[in-house]
Amino acid sequence: MTQMSLPFESRYWPLRAYYDVYYRSIEETETFWAEQARQLEWFKTWDKTLEWDPPFARWFVGGQLNAAYICVDKHAQSWRRSKVAIYWEGEPGDTRTLSYSTLYREVKRFASVLQDLGVGKGDRVALYLPMIPELAVFMLACARIGAIHTVIFSGFSARALADRINDTQAKLLVTADGGFRGGKTLPLKEIADEAVAMSPSVEKVIVVKRTGGAVNIRPPRDHWLHDLLAQTSDLSAPEPIDSNHPLYILYTSGTTGKPKGIVHSTGGYLVHNYCAYKWVFDIREESVYWCSADVGWVTGHSSIVYAPLAHGATIVLYEGAPDYPAVDRWWDIIEKYGVTIFYTSPTAIRMFMKYGEEGPRKHDLRSLELLGSVGEPINPEAWLWYYKNIGGERCPIVDTWWQTETGGIMISPTPGIGCIPLKPGSAAMPLPGVDVAVVDEKGGEVPSEERGQLVIRKPWPGMLQGIWGNPQRYREAYWSRFPGMYYTGDYAIKDKDGYFWILGRADEVLKVAGHRLGTAELEDAAVSYPLLAEAAVVGRADPIKGESIVIFVIPKEGVSPSSDLKKGLIEHMRQTVGPIATPDEVYFVAKLPKTRSGKVMRRVLKAVAENASVGDLTTLEDEASVEEVMRSYRELGPQRV
Ligand code: WT7
Repeated sequence: MTQMSLPFESRYWPLRAYYDVYYRSIEETETFWAEQARQLEWFKTWDKTLEWDPPFARWFVGGQLNAAYICVDKHAQSWRRSKVAIYWEGEPGDTRTLSYSTLYREVKRFASVLQDLGVGKGDRVALYLPMIPELAVFMLACARIGAIHTVIFSGFSARALADRINDTQAKLLVTADGGFRGGKTLPLKEIADEAVAMSPSVEKVIVVKRTGGAVNIRPPRDHWLHDLLAQTSDLSAPEPIDSNHPLYILYTSGTTGKPKGIVHSTGGYLVHNYCAYKWVFDIREESVYWCSADVGWVTGHSSIVYAPLAHGATIVLYEGAPDYPAVDRWWDIIEKYGVTIFYTSPTAIRMFMKYGEEGPRKHDLRSLELLGSVGEPINPEAWLWYYKNIGGERCPIVDTWWQTETGGIMISPTPGIGCIPLKPGSAAMPLPGVDVAVVDEKGGEVPSEERGQLVIRKPWPGMLQGIWGNPQRYREAYWSRFPGMYYTGDYAIKDKDGYFWILGRADEVLKVAGHRLGTAELEDAAVSYPLLAEAAVVGRADPIKGESIVIFVIPKEGVSPSSDLKKGLIEHMRQTVGPIATPDEVYFVAKLPKTRSGKVMRRVLKAVAENASVGDLTTLEDEASVEEVMRSYRELGPQRV
């Protein structure tokens, strides 16, 4: 492991190794990525490295490969066949260990089950599962036959699940009888049944037995996985898949109500992630790698499944809540499996900071060599706590900036390339081949140390191919704000040493405990509650979750504010989106502050929610409405939910 030089404030930084690679990669980007791509196994080499028809990029055109072959078959056919691929730990304490040869057998059998049910290349398969090995196995089984998976986070509601199924027109849904989380069971099959009733495209449902709880199996639509496995033939060979065939669709929130189905390619996506894991995590044969994210997010796709397995690494997968049955559960897992690389979110770190140092102190964490952070800005206090209490002041922390859309890590320290000094709170430098900049409203680069919008100036291999079924929205959301540049939606500063500091979202998207939620999506959910006329959502700074949801609502004519109304609304939002959409505070108001053109002034609401000064109100249509919001705020006082 490369030792990073500390302290953080040195004037003479040994950045040579990184700069040597980086500058060449930016001068000859295509040649650089083509060299990297040769490290993967291709069934057919590409004819053209990049076809760039802005804003649509196609990488390694004409090339053929198979993601499951790269992540599984290849290792199972080498000495790694007996190496552990997955250490799985269930929340109740049950465990399973899958070697690469076991994983290979499972992926093949699951793939042939998919084929038995008539799933083929290009078909969409919805996966609504807890964090059990079957989730990764189904993803790889889809990849093996060229079916496109769409994983839906198991915390989403029936409505959210149905919306995603309908958008992809998936014909198969895979779910489980339930999953364990925080000592409770999630009734996944029940939720799935409710969703399928709203999703006419679904022809078959596969049910994995996890909790053993009673569920309703309705033939001929529903099948237990174990019954299908018992009948299948296990003959499938990996299909050669075009580099630009979609590997998966993953939904994320944007600035309008409807979530976007982000489409990722096979070849470019794998090349990007393969490289990122070498550069950022310095992933090696003997690494035991644990990413605590849920597979339902992009971190789970790239950082739990595709990147580590492409390297033939050993991963840890944990099903349950971080603090169940006790607050030292994670540290217990690190000690038990000898985890060497641990990757988590700032929200989790801040939660453990609150629990105190006792938890980690009870465990021997000396196996750890490298720590990572992802999903939201990490404040220096949390960084230092993590560095000291988890990393024992020994382990560098890689703060990795990326997005569902970027497919892989874009900005991060790269210990796998060479040592660079770390600055707590900064994601450091762009990865080789990644051209990022901080620009002003007109798209011109701002001077160092000044805040601006973070953009990406060149296509990169892991880049999204588009939004499923909506090329126009893809253009508008990412490529219209700054012509020729990808708009990230984040504010950033590049300091005088060239380090990037990501400051958070610049658009109407919240980051609540690292989860991305659109204000419009939450407002749509709120106003679908029949007793409400209008709603506006803002994020309020939260010491643990980064941001929390504050909602201002106007009840319908004749409906008066009450605690029952509030309870009803909260329950409705949980039902419509999922528990991650639970508002932290609800304010009843008679009016919302609006500009002359009728747009809600979020800045005012945010100031009210944070009890700060409101600032310039000259563009407001009706200043009285601000006064009113302020008054109702004072009168009602903070109503914690
Ligand atoms: C947004 C993307 C990438 C996997 C998980 C999130 C924020 C992400 C960082 C970081 C500061 C970060 C940004 C970004 N973000 N990583 N290291 N420092 N902010 O994926 O749900 O698509 O969210 O997360 O705001 O735009 P996502």
